[in-house]
Amino acid sequence: MSGELTWRDAEKSDRPALEQFTCTGPAPKGPNHRPLPHPRPWEQEAQTGIRTRKPPGATRDIYRVGTTADGTIVAVAVAGTLDEPSYTNTYKLMVLAVATSVRGAGGEVADACMRDVLGQIGHRARADGLAAVLVLSQVDPHNEPSRSMCQRHEFTSAGVRGDYEVWIRHIAIEPLRA
Ligand SMILES: CC(C)(COP(=O)(O)OP(=O)(O)OC[C@H]1O[C@@H](n2cnc3c(N)ncnc32)[C@H](O)[C@@H]1OP(=O)(O)O)[C@@H](O)C(=O)NCCC(=O)NCCS
Repeated sequence: MSGELTWRDAEKSDRPALEQFTCTGPAPKGPNHRPLPHPRPWEQEAQTGIRTRKPPGATRDIYRVGTTADGTIVAVAVAGTLDEPSYTNTYKLMVLAVATSVRGAGGEVADACMRDVLGQIGHRARADGLAAVLVLSQVDPHNEPSRSMCQRHEFTSAGVRGDYEVWIRHIAIEPLRA
């Protein structure tokens, strides 16, 4: 599937599609169709984050989408630098999600999305003249698919910060050959 996808920066014109982006099932309904708590609130949080985050966003944010041949957005990743002085040369993965239509298929689209966003971080770091960057991902402890994805991409556990596990990956920036 990933071979058929196109990876590109999100644009303002993607906003309507992103406002409908669906990476988790609906919240169940109780009596009188009243919504009950979502069984995986961490997924709902990611979905709400995508639906409300308007590209292109902050100038320094990396906001990427993967689209099928007909232009449907099936994957989204957003990464940005951290302003905190103790996190220089650090990018944080704000969100990475794949559409429900491509979930449960062995992680192919998720992995392609992760490779794309890490590649973009590498390009940006090289353009900034950095020799290395740290990529940080905060994972809800209940989010097994997210933790598995980080492990597949050589993130290592860096403990817990508040309600989240912290996973980090170092990327060495290869200098461009003259
Ligand atoms: C994190 C994510 C990108 C990883 O994608 P992935 O590697 O393709 O993994 P899947 O989502 O297919 O999940 C794998 C497991 O979850 C379960 N699963 C599959 N489809 C699912 C669905 N539609 N809803 C919930 N769980 C599902 C399956 O048990 C699957 O197990 P398997 O590997 O034995 O088949 C993806 O899970 C996702 O988009 N989640 C919602 C957004 C999110 O939580 N992002 C991370 C925080 S920003």
